[in-house]
Amino acid sequence: MEALQCIKIGDPTIPISETSPITISTSHAIPNLISPTSIRVRVKSTSLNYANYLQILGKYQEKPPLPFIPGSDYSGVVDFIGPNVSNFRPGDRVCSFAALGSFAQFIVAEENDLFLVPNGCDLVAAGALPVAFGTSHVALVHRAQLSSGQVLLVLGAAGGVGLSAVQIGKVCGAVVIAVARGDEKVQFLKSLGVDHVVDGGKDSIIESVKEFLKARKLKGVDVLYDPVGGKLTKESMKLLNWGAHILIIGFASGDVPVIPANIALVKNWTIHGLYWGSHKIHRPGVLEDSVKELLSWFAKGLITINISHTYKLSEANLAFAAIKERKAIGKVMIAFDDDSRQKSKL
Ligand SMILES: NC(=O)c1ccc[n+]([C@@H]2O[C@H](COP(=O)([O-])OP(=O)(O)OC[C@H]3O[C@@H](n4cnc5c(N)ncnc54)[C@H](OP(=O)(O)O)[C@@H]3O)[C@@H](O)[C@H]2O)c1
Repeated sequence: MEALQCIKIGDPTIPISETSPITISTSHAIPNLISPTSIRVRVKSTSLNYANYLQILGKYQEKPPLPFIPGSDYSGVVDFIGPNVSNFRPGDRVCSFAALGSFAQFIVAEENDLFLVPNGCDLVAAGALPVAFGTSHVALVHRAQLSSGQVLLVLGAAGGVGLSAVQIGKVCGAVVIAVARGDEKVQFLKSLGVDHVVDGGKDSIIESVKEFLKARKLKGVDVLYDPVGGKLTKESMKLLNWGAHILIIGFASGDVPVIPANIALVKNWTIHGLYWGSHKIHRPGVLEDSVKELLSWFAKGLITINISHTYKLSEANLAFAAIKERKAIGKVMIAFDDDSRQKSKL
């Protein structure tokens, strides 16, 4: 089968060659079932998450031994099932996530870890749902308990997790303020009906958001969704209400922000550190319920999955470059056996 392996730590955006940290094999062994309740899936698509990029750079919190096949969330079709599998049959359309291994034509998972993709839902898009939408759903719904009428501020709002947070915020009935850089991202967010969009590359976030809040007779921000960190977090803190929730999602800026405990005390803020993947070990039921609810929202059209770039596995360096260069609007995908899809914009 075709598989991408990380053979050394380095920059995965350089052209795939002898010096690249990633290599494509066309004759990798197809994985066997690992238990009587396991299932082999023929992968249709797998998404690029910022974490996949950081992992190959050697900058992610989890550092698997080399060589490894990267990749986390994916969709596909059930290819082969163990004798004790009761809920799936060959041919079923599924999606799931793993710690590693989805940048390959086949992957093996336990049946309890797979989700049926509802009829009518695009299978390639379903491969982008678990990590990005799952993270934002657990953060906003389970942790911050975002409710109708509350003000949600989303940083990095056109990226993978950011765009999912914007949409989940709208489903919850929140007033959504989005921060993104560049005209294309700003226009796209406006087209989704976001209440206020700030171009972080041009406008002062504090001034722009304060003006909007004043015009809408709102006091401040109730929930801050932060996958960026650094200077943006520092500025956003000036906009938070008494009793606000801060969701620490990631540090795409490369800068881990400091949140002063004295201000958190005085303002009664709740600060949530959120590592979605670790819920698989500590709160598996929360993850399962969350992905199932998201799939039902996807089937009803309450959320849509925007894919700005799609590549073949052999073009994975270009896919990583789209992430590194902040070009993604929504998700960047690797799709298998699907030459008909729109080619990359790069
Ligand atoms: N906690 C969890 O469980 C969890 C789960 C998934 C992701 N994450 C984290 O969330 C962050 C975003 O992940 P993602 O997959 O959504 O990535 P992404 O699609 O690449 O989005 C990142 C966004 O961050 C913004 N950004 C600001 N400064 C940046 C910089 N210096 N370099 C790159 N981007 C910058 C970009 O928006 P503009 O260009 O518009 O500014 C970009 O749209 C990552 O840190 C990731 O590790 C955490």
